Parts: sequence; C-alpha cells; structure tokens
Amino acid sequence: MFTHQHHLRYLLRSEHYTSESHYRTELERLFRPAWHPVAAASQLARPGDFITFELFGTPILLRNMDGELCCFLNVCPHRHARLSDRPKGRSPTLRCQFHGWEYQKDGRTARIPEARLFRPWDRENSCLRKFRVATWGEIVFVCLDRAAPRLSEFLAPLPESWGRCFEPPFRLAAVYHQDFACNWKVVIETSLESYHVACLHPKTFKECPPEEVCDHNLHARYSSLRCDVPQDYAGRFMNASVRMLGGQAVTKKYENHNIYPHVFFARMDVYRQVQIVVPTSATTCRHYSWLYTLWNGRRNPLRWLLARPLQGIVVHVGKQVFREDGSIYEAVQRGIEASPFPGVIGAREERIHDFQRFVLERCGYPVGDAGPGAPWINGAAPVSDSAFNGECAACEPTRIRP
Ligand code: FES
Ligand SMILES: [Fe+2]
Repeated sequence: MFTHQHHLRYLLRSEHYTSESHYRTELERLFRPAWHPVAAASQLARPGDFITFELFGTPILLRNMDGELCCFLNVCPHRHARLSDRPKGRSPTLRCQFHGWEYQKDGRTARIPEARLFRPWDRENSCLRKFRVATWGEIVFVCLDRAAPRLSEFLAPLPESWGRCFEPPFRLAAVYHQDFACNWKVVIETSLESYHVACLHPKTFKECPPEEVCDHNLHARYSSLRCDVPQDYAGRFMNASVRMLGGQAVTKKYENHNIYPHVFFARMDVYRQVQIVVPTSATTCRHYSWLYTLWNGRRNPLRWLLARPLQGIVVHVGKQVFREDGSIYEAVQRGIEASPFPGVIGAREERIHDFQRFVLERCGYPVGDAGPGAPWINGAAPVSDSAFNGECAACEPTRIRP
C-alpha cells in the first residue's frame, strides 16, 4: 500500500533544477558527505587492475595495490599530469604517464627517474592524495570527505543482508553508463515512481503493479518499494530458472531502495542492480549501472546452458529499461525550465515528495517555503490546490459535439 491516499505538494522549483548556486549547495551538502558506488570488486580483482573516472570534477584513480583497493586523486605531484588517462587497465606499477614517477600504496614515491635532480627532496609535497574506499559485499564505494560518517552509517538502515546479495551465485553481467542533458534529480525522480510504467515501458512491463501488491517505505534518508512480480509467462519462466539454477529461494518479489541522494539498489530473484546518478553540472548528469545475474553455471553444463541465455535476457531487458527511461529525461528538463505550473505529486509518486523534502532539508531550506505561495518560474502565479479538485479555473473545457 502507499503511505498517502491523496496528492502531495511538488516541493522543488525550476531553479532547483537549473541554478548554478543551488547546484553548488547540493555538491557541498548532499554529495560531499556521501559514499559513491564506483565499481564491482570483480572489476579490480587482480593486483595492478585499475579504473579511472571523475566524481564532481575530481579525477580519481582506483587501483588494486597488491590486493588492497586504494583510491587516489588522479593527479601527479610532480607537474600535475593525470597519472593515467586510460578508463581501465592493468599495470605492474602505479606509474605516472608523463615522466614515469612510480608510487606505492600509501601514496609515497617508489621510484623516480634521475632522482638526484630533485635534491633536496620535498617529501611532504610528493605524495599522492588518497580518498576513503570501502566495500559492501561486492560493491566498491568511495567517499571524498574525510569527516563523513562511515559507509555502514551512510547505508543504514538498509539490512545487512543486502551487502551479500551481490555475491555468488550472482555474477557481474554488465556495466553501462550514459550522459544526460538534465539535472540529476530528473533521473532520480523517474526511478522513484512506477506511475510512468504503462506509458514509458508498455512492452517491457506492460502495466503498473496495482497498489495492493506494492509497499512503500519512507524513511528520513531513504525510501523503498517492494512489490509482487506478476506471475505471467515471464514471471513463471524466472521462477523455473531460479529453481533449476539452485542456491536461491524463489520470492517472486521485486525490491528497490534509494539511499538519498543518489544510490539505488534493486533486486529480483534473477538479478541484482546498483545504480548511481552523478551530477556533472547544474543541468547535466551521468547515470551508471552495474547489473548482476543469477549464474551458478560453471560446475554443471546443464545449468550453464540455462544461465547463459538467462543472463542475455536480463541484460537485454535491463538496457531496454535504461533506454526507455532515458528517452524522457531531456523532455522533462526542458519542460521544467519553461513550466508555469507548480507541479503535483500523486500518491503512487510519494517517494518523490520524500526525496524532495530530503533535498530541501539538507540544503538548509525550510520545506514549507517551497510549497504553494512560493514564486514559480517566469513570475507565474502558483496554482492552488483547488485546481486539482475539478476543472482548471483558467479555461473552459473543450467539448466535442456529437
Ligand atoms: S607529471 Fe608525473 S612524473 Fe612528471
Ligand atoms: Fe522506468
């Protein structure tokens, strides 16, 4: 069931999706103290494996240093070059691509070509900058703030068992990302409601799950949806696959959790998924996804024969949903920038209301200030709640004559 049985106020305004100053506030208050899933441990399994990426304009290099995952600022203290520009790879040493300075896992230099040229040695300013890194089951998280709470506190109260649900018999099947020309909250808000399912995913999911089989959980720092999976042909195929592959109970449930502001976990009996939306400017963002499928196939050729196509189907559907959702983001952003309306949130979309409350509170704005009565964009008058009780007061309904 939904928590509310009536519509809710749309709490944010246009400038929350467009303004540079609000974006800066969000980076400082929402994202700096947050932990960010950035990789699956299996992507960095061997000593020397590394990936590079950017978080909020900060270049990062994450590397397996002799079995220990280390996260460095991807900038060399010598003459500021990025240590590596390869998005991923493996190398015997952590070596800067410009003059070949090499580093150890504590960030100190290991070898410097013609080191005598740098006498007297400035130890303090020749060390790589390190960031906090922690794993949760298979998922590797990074935090850019030394003073932020630990990862377990950031994820609480998500049950401990969630950290293990990405481990065998599940296996990483696909990693993908895409850039979108919209504010990061447009992506989050789309993922927080099932109201769009019939319209945006008509073939993939067909219809929204009815309220009777949905449970919303609204919490101060996260919200979740748990619902029954329809027992149609696809649902029964999944149940049979889970039984045949073994190692996993058949629950016939779908769950998704959004740890505010930007981390999603989802699971069904045949897959697990981690997603993150990273703002790259006030009006652009990057959406990452790690998809795990039920595997358990190596030891038994018959199971392998089933696991392989199951993986293909789940990855195909996962990417299809990603594309279908992605088809609306820019239209929503452009609409927000031109809208004279205050917006409204239906009971099925109540998790969005909760998320918007979190954003306003964390950014230091009283939530009430952004409701009806607050100026909307273009100087347009806000629409009162009564407008939703019947016909719009501003226009006559168009009637079609028989
Ligand atoms: S800039 Fe890295 S070794 Fe020179
Ligand atoms: Fe969707």
